[in-house]
Amino acid sequence: MSAPFYITTPIYYVNDVPHLGHAYTTIVADALARYHRARGTDTRFLTGTDEHGQKIEEVAQKRGLEPKAHADEVVERFRATWQNLDIAHDDFIRTTEPRHEAVVAEVWRRMAAAGDVYLGEYEGLYCVSCEAFYTEGQLDAGELCPTHKRAVTRVKEPSYFFRLSRYQEPLLAHIDANPDFIQPESRRNEIVAFLRTGLRDISISRTTFRWGIPAPGDPAHVIYVWVDALTNYVSALGGPGAPLYERYWPGACHLLGKDILRFHAVYWPAMLLSAGLPLPRTLFAHGWWTLRGEKISKSLPATRVDPNQLAADLGPDALRYFLLREVPLGVDGDFSYESLIGRVNSDLANDLGNLLHRTLAMTDKYVGGIVPAAAPELDATGAHAELAALAERVRAETERHFDAFAPSRALESIWELVRAANRYVDVAAPWTLAKDPTRRRELEHVIHTFLEAALWAALLAAPVIPRKAGVLLEQLGVPELVGGWPSRWNCELPAGRTTTRGAPLFPRIDEDRQAELLARWLPPESGADAGGARQTDAPATTKPAATAATERPTATKQKPPAPAAPPGMIPYDDFARLDLRVARVLTAERIPGADKLLRLALELGGETRQVVAGLAEAYSPEALIGRSVIFLANLAPRRIRGVESQGMILAAGEDQVLALSALDRDVPPGTKVR
Ligand code: MSP
Repeated sequence: MSAPFYITTPIYYVNDVPHLGHAYTTIVADALARYHRARGTDTRFLTGTDEHGQKIEEVAQKRGLEPKAHADEVVERFRATWQNLDIAHDDFIRTTEPRHEAVVAEVWRRMAAAGDVYLGEYEGLYCVSCEAFYTEGQLDAGELCPTHKRAVTRVKEPSYFFRLSRYQEPLLAHIDANPDFIQPESRRNEIVAFLRTGLRDISISRTTFRWGIPAPGDPAHVIYVWVDALTNYVSALGGPGAPLYERYWPGACHLLGKDILRFHAVYWPAMLLSAGLPLPRTLFAHGWWTLRGEKISKSLPATRVDPNQLAADLGPDALRYFLLREVPLGVDGDFSYESLIGRVNSDLANDLGNLLHRTLAMTDKYVGGIVPAAAPELDATGAHAELAALAERVRAETERHFDAFAPSRALESIWELVRAANRYVDVAAPWTLAKDPTRRRELEHVIHTFLEAALWAALLAAPVIPRKAGVLLEQLGVPELVGGWPSRWNCELPAGRTTTRGAPLFPRIDEDRQAELLARWLPPESGADAGGARQTDAPATTKPAATAATERPTATKQKPPAPAAPPGMIPYDDFARLDLRVARVLTAERIPGADKLLRLALELGGETRQVVAGLAEAYSPEALIGRSVIFLANLAPRRIRGVESQGMILAAGEDQVLALSALDRDVPPGTKVR
């Protein structure tokens, strides 16, 4: 049996109710936990809520509540959402629980005992929404937080500091020795580039508000909310030395959004090193769900998509499947209700639903609804052999992809089996075999085989669609196999079981139903299209886009059509989709074996991007470091010579680069270009 697996989500702030972004991380973690459990791995899955800090104190004050009373209310919304989405966590931690507060104090004491905590005065810029400090260079024009586009506050107060600067080299060494520590690779490179620029000590206590854990020995200070929050991963196991800690901490894997990678990949490991504790095994940073390019978040309510509503209307499995299948983990995805409906209809209703429906109907018709025995000698011949080989390959690939945090690819493989099984039914043509009594054994084998294929699909996909996989197994007469994993082809489904036909597994969403759902999901006053987002930046006359008519069944019926662009021109909307930004070159290096290419790390206002650019013939790597360039930030990533390129630098020249884009004044990285 493999080593224990301990998967965590970030703990979510209780300043607002759960949205699709939170649901995404939690569903991915749940699917991975279910997969590892099904493989027999000793698995633990933790989620929870982050309840301290200035942001929560302010939100509670606005509501006229004590912060704890506010948190008690909102935490229930998270619990209910996880229930609605069939999240099967083993533990739910709240940072206001005594079991957590005790371990935070212990970690603080350990860091202090290592000589890494000292008293000073902090003066600088703070974004309450991020609960993070910024330097001037990191802010957007007008001293705005680059993430929340809100004014930061200047704070000056006595503060304890953590000697983060001591950990630059140990962290680089750890990352170097453990290439899988930070995933995906592009994010690891980003952190390495950041670490190489040097680390400054960080402020880890505040004195100007009270809602937090008091610093040991100096209760005038509350512990910085990130130090408090990150410790949840250990406190939920009972803290260093506790039995659960001993059992699970070595297998720790933190899943998180790319927005909070630095806290997890720099602060947290440095804290652990200082406290004399081992580091987690893996950090995996996934991308963002956006709506028309804007990050789905609570601070941008126009982009709010309610996972509870979607799960109530389509069933949790449809949403889970869509989120995991649509976009590879690690990459950003633009959410649209249409793609969601499209996936439900094609993959779930058509491919999987059909397979089950046809196989159960034929089992009823030809063998009286009783699972017949397989004929193992036939598995080595023709279409049977092909399906058998494919099923074994798909199982191995599914395992490989889930093991590598690639649920979308796992689902892609599983659907290869689903589609092949549908084709097998057509080729094996049980209706023809049934006419010839001498071919009875073959007929029974075919029926066994397609039932087995449906069973394998259910078991392999169950981590993602647990509820419907359970129904499917029940209809095949094997409810006891829930939570299992297939191992040998045509040996999983016992002969003699009674199958049962039921309502369609995933009903097709026809046009009327689509219109009804879209009317419910899209707020009437939002002016939103089927993508769901409000277009705040485009002039009114240019929306909606010209392609809209067929794509937006209800919500856009009353909208005026967009003026068509003259031939050869693009409408403003198309231009507005380009996310052009100022980026600063942090590092540049040649790519071995590629004469024209350089690998660059670019600072983009709070995040780093890796880019492969064909600049090597025009510029030496050294000449680029420190320059500001114009950067296309929402270009889909692609691999060039095995290296992921996450965007594009603009330069003049067609086949050859003649000159790099530049700005005639210094502006902070991340500033929008229009
Ligand atoms: N409380 C901190 C985390 C502390 S962990 C020790 C926090 N909370 S949060 O409520 O803001 O949640 C952030 C996390 O929610 C992201 O890291 C990501 O997992 C998820 N997401 C929030 N918005 C998202 C998208 N639009 N898309 C994908 N995931 C997103 O930060």
